[in-house]
Formats: sequence, structure tokens, C-alpha cells
Amino acid sequence: MNLNNKSIIVTGGAGFIGSHLVDRLISEQPKELIVCSNFFLGKESNLLDALRKFPKLKIVKVDVSDYGEMRQILEKYSVDIVFNLAVIPLPTSLEKPEWTFSENVNMTLNLCKLAREDKFKSLIQFSSSEAYGSALYSPMDEQHPINPETPYAASKAATDHLAFSYGRTFGIDVKIIRPFNNYGPRQNWGNYAGIIPLSIKRILENAPLTIFGDGLQTRDYIFVTDTAEAAIAISKTANARNKVINVGTGQEITVLNLLKLIADNMNYKKEFIFKEARPGDVRRHVADTKLLKKLTGFEPKVKIEEGIKKTIDWYKANIPSK
Ligand SMILES: NC(=O)c1ccc[n+]([C@@H]2O[C@H](COP(=O)([O-])OP(=O)(O)OC[C@H]3O[C@@H](n4cnc5c(N)ncnc54)[C@H](O)[C@@H]3O)[C@@H](O)[C@H]2O)c1
Repeated sequence: MNLNNKSIIVTGGAGFIGSHLVDRLISEQPKELIVCSNFFLGKESNLLDALRKFPKLKIVKVDVSDYGEMRQILEKYSVDIVFNLAVIPLPTSLEKPEWTFSENVNMTLNLCKLAREDKFKSLIQFSSSEAYGSALYSPMDEQHPINPETPYAASKAATDHLAFSYGRTFGIDVKIIRPFNNYGPRQNWGNYAGIIPLSIKRILENAPLTIFGDGLQTRDYIFVTDTAEAAIAISKTANARNKVINVGTGQEITVLNLLKLIADNMNYKKEFIFKEARPGDVRRHVADTKLLKKLTGFEPKVKIEEGIKKTIDWYKANIPSK
């Protein structure tokens, strides 16, 4: 489906990946572009660039788990496509497992119901590589078993199954994007921050860097603008219907080497502090991206060295250092 002149909703669009997706969607010249967020984590300031480039961007404060409100918005804007990124994140699921699980499932369930009622045409559902759990083999392709380790991961696996079930049973048009670890500007650096923003912030505050576990756990880090590009490519690919598609770089980096890269870039010389591994921390994560490449031709552009530099520059300009 071409996105030009379409009416598009991005749930969670004031968040990290969502705001970059909004930036990138503007160049597709949509008729309407609507961000739906309850601002649990996202910020309006993440959308300032987007508002400058596309002043008619709508930012609607709404709880996606409220079926009635979502229905009203979909009807008001005659929506074609929903990119569903709204989520309660992993760290919250360690403190509030039931709530995280039910919120994440209810948001997707509402959108599936509304797609079934023809309130919009196409659902682009964001999954997570966390649904796989630790790698039983590497790289992980889309046939890798689903072994979620945290309640968050279980909610992502559950919402994938739910969305597919609506595709198979009721014929809704659903495509599932399964990103590996994202990094880049605007990633939350406050509560529930990921390792990259947290480490940059700690160095800026002259605080020591901590590694949970031995640091040899690996991740596939993809720069956020590459994920936005891949999501748009998948949304336009008819053959992606009823499929889950990995979005990663196919390159693995240990947490230790990642922190060394950040430390070198920021001239941090102190020793790292090692602490006990956290529950549910997966050991290896690297994407097999053959399906993404085959269906869309997409390949990531930003190398980790370049992406880390851009990310550090952004945080230096945007977070106060002590
Ligand atoms: N960040 C990553 O590394 C990563 C990796 C794999 C998959 N993902 C997936 O990508 C998507 C976006 O992740 P992100 O890192 O940008 O998250 P984020 O936390 O930055 O953004 C999620 C947004 O959802 C909003 N939200 C939460 N509950 C809501 C509700 N009930 N109603 C409306 N809005 C609500 C939050 O306010 C927040 O702005 C998620 O589905 C996530 O599971 C992220």
C-alpha cells in the first residue's frame, strides 16, 4: 500500500521509535498523520521536528486500551493504516507484571477488533525480539521458537498471536514487525532507561558505569531511523501480510564492547562495575534478516560506530549534565 495521501495513526508516536517513524512518514506525504499517546513515557518535545515539517500533525492524548475513544478517533479521521507502537515497557513488567501484560494485550485487542469492524484497513503491529527469549540458535530467524522470559516479552508474544489470529480468522490485514534492540536520539533516559542512554547519562554525570552479568551477553543494535525506514518498507509490501518480519542489523555486539565504544567516544577512563545478572536478561540476540531483505530489499544504513556518535551528540545537547 502506498502511504501517499493516506490517513495514518501512529500509536505511541510520541515515544522513542514512534517519533522517528512519524518524522519519516512525513516524507510519504500522508493526508492525515495522527499520533495517539497517553504520554506514559513519550514526550511532546519528541515531535517538535515533525510539527515544524508537518504543521497539521495531530497529537491526540488518548488511552489506546480505551476501545470507545479509539473508535471515535478512527471514525473522525477515516483512517487507512495504524502503526501500533504503544507499549508498557519491559522494566515496568518486572514491577507490575499483570498490569503490563493486560495493557499491552488490550491495546492490540482493541485495534484488532476495530480493524475487523472495518474502521481502518491495515494494522502494522510492532512486536519485539524479546518474544524469542535467549537464542537457541544464532542468528534467529522468524521460525525461532517463542520463549518469552519476562511478562513484557510474554505480552509481545501474546499480541503477535492475537493479531495473527484476527488475520487468519477474520481476514484483517496485519503485518508484524519484530525489531531487535533500538538505539538513537530521544530514547527515554529517565525511569526505565535502556543501557545506551543510561550509560551516556551516567558518564555525563561523572558516575560509574555498571554492567549486569559478565558483559558477554550480546545484542543486535539497530539505529532507530533504520527501524523507521524498515517499518515503512514493510507496510508497503503486500507479501508481508500475515507475516512476522525481523528488523535488525544481523550484527551482534557484546554489552561489554558496546560500553567500551561509548566510553571511548566520551573519554571515560574508569573501570566498569560488574553486578549480578538481572532476571530475564537474555543471553544472545541477533537477527536473521533474510526475510526482510527478500521482501523489501531493505538493508540498514547506520553502522554502530556512527550511530553511537550521533546518539552521544544528541544526549550531550539535550540532557543537562551535572
Ligand atoms: N526500543 C526498543 O529497543 C524496541 C525493540 C523491539 C521492539 N520495540 C517495540 O517498539 C515499539 C515502540 O517502542 P519504544 O521503545 O519506542 O517505546 P516508548 O516507551 O518510547 O514508546 C511507547 C509509547 O507508548 C505510549 N503508551 C503506553 N501505553 C499507552 C496507552 N495505553 N495508550 C496510548 N499510548 C500508550 C507511551 O506513552 C510511549 O510514548 C513497542 O511496541 C516496543 O515493544 C522496541
